[in-house]
Amino acid sequence: LPADIFPGRRNSIGVDLADPLVRDPLLQRLEALESRHWYAGPTFPSEDAGEEAPINAPQDLTHEVGTRRDSTEEEVRAAITQAEFIQPGWNALGGEKRAVLLEAAADLFEDHMDEFLSLCRREAGKTVLDGVLEVREAVDFLRYYATEARRQFSAPIMLPGPTGEENRLHLAGRGVFATISPWNFPLAIFIGPAAAAMAAGNTVIAKPAEQTPLIAALAVKLCHEAGIPEEVFQLLPGAGDVGQMITGDPRIAGVAFTGSTETAQAINRSLAAREGPIATFIAETGGQNAMIVDSSALPEQVARDVVASAFQSAGQRCSAQRMLYIQDDVYDDMLAMIRGAFAALQIGDPTDFAIDVGPVIDPDAKAALERHVARRKKAGRTVWRRKLPRGTANGCFVAPTIIELDSILDLKRENFGPILHVARYKADGLNRVIADINSTGYGLTLGLHSRIEATRRYVEARARVGNFYVNRNQIGAVVESQPFGGEGLSGTGPKAGGPHYVARFATERVVCIDT
Ligand code: NAD
Ligand code: ALA
Repeated sequence: LPADIFPGRRNSIGVDLADPLVRDPLLQRLEALESRHWYAGPTFPSEDAGEEAPINAPQDLTHEVGTRRDSTEEEVRAAITQAEFIQPGWNALGGEKRAVLLEAAADLFEDHMDEFLSLCRREAGKTVLDGVLEVREAVDFLRYYATEARRQFSAPIMLPGPTGEENRLHLAGRGVFATISPWNFPLAIFIGPAAAAMAAGNTVIAKPAEQTPLIAALAVKLCHEAGIPEEVFQLLPGAGDVGQMITGDPRIAGVAFTGSTETAQAINRSLAAREGPIATFIAETGGQNAMIVDSSALPEQVARDVVASAFQSAGQRCSAQRMLYIQDDVYDDMLAMIRGAFAALQIGDPTDFAIDVGPVIDPDAKAALERHVARRKKAGRTVWRRKLPRGTANGCFVAPTIIELDSILDLKRENFGPILHVARYKADGLNRVIADINSTGYGLTLGLHSRIEATRRYVEARARVGNFYVNRNQIGAVVESQPFGGEGLSGTGPKAGGPHYVARFATERVVCIDT
């Protein structure tokens, strides 16, 4: 990278999947890792361990990838005690030394790319492309937050004052942070908030999603190998009940949560009801993300970007497009072109490199999406569905679907999978479209395809979203270039991968010395 763009920071290593000399050996190495059996358990297991539960591949529920052992109440309490004890020392280490450790972890993540990719495919059902993007984002988060630790936590800000007075502003860790993460970015969003919390001088109790603890366990192990003390970064696998035990402990100074809006609201209520200090709550939640396409848009570009935004990662990105508004005059032609690209999607087991759309995460997710499609069909909506290919019966596959609606207001909840809704709008109805999108209360991503500068300015000024994308797809925010996060029902507004993110994990202390 040019040093003047990202001074002092290396970007993650890319993998050129288009080059068979890179791709074919990689696929062979991943094949050799297929039979490895993985395990996730608490960092400091107690004698009185519970039972292990299997983790099965979403594309083939008969294939066991590994086992998970949930944390007990005693382990949760003991972990927080250790994290609380060591936190002042970790904070006193300073930004530079913490940065060196986070960078060492990033290097190890790159060295272990194959294992991460294997787990992305088998534990989370990701395509190789999505796996590579996932590992790269994780590495970028580690390196970027290390840079921020150096920049913001190495020296205080000197403040003005009268002669004879010294005023300093210090950023410091708050204490023990709980990070609670989702399964859809099982590595990047597991490590991102944890790295930011550690960069800021906190110790971390990390609870991964119950569906994807194995990749989290590998990430934590590599962080320990990089030199981050085990007490500083502890893994506590388990489901929502373990999350509740952690966030309910009054010694937890802050919670960084990524997941559904409903769970964020539940955690928010429980933090408010808790005894003890008032905890910081950082929430990054769901979206009801739309794209608007007007008659000046380029149809081929729209088709490519809509299909990527709605169906890449089987639609299981918080940023994914759920609703497409197309201007009336070009609706039929534009939709025909999108349906052409939709018809070309390859669906199936993501261990096959040719696959574009893999499974959804589990049987519950599949059932919820199928119920949504069935309800729309029953209501007489036009529904286009792809057929699932043979060989998908053992997995959690949902056929990619396009459903015609009148408005985004017909959607009551986030449909987290490969389902796109489309509606038409009249040229003079853009204000209504924006008002409807805003009135969902979500505010994560919005896409616009238009060559009219005044339209871009109009939408930009009115849309209440965290990330607005113009004439491109609306997924795949890049660390540092596109800090990511929403507002309203989409979260408390942190921008992961942005310059203010790490500071949200810190407290500010002022020292005033009369010399
Ligand atoms: P989820 O809310 O079901 O679970 C998220 C995490 O919370 C899991 O680790 C789960 O075990 C835990 N949890 C559940 N109940 C809890 C409770 N009462 N107390 C504490 N922890 C609890 O979400 P999910 O299905 O894992 O993830 C998908 C969701 O995440 C989607 O809504 C998606 O939009 C959202 N998401 C948002 C972003 C973002 O940056 N805004 C990024 C990725 C995913
Ligand atoms: N950072 C992820 C994306 O933009 C959520 O798709």
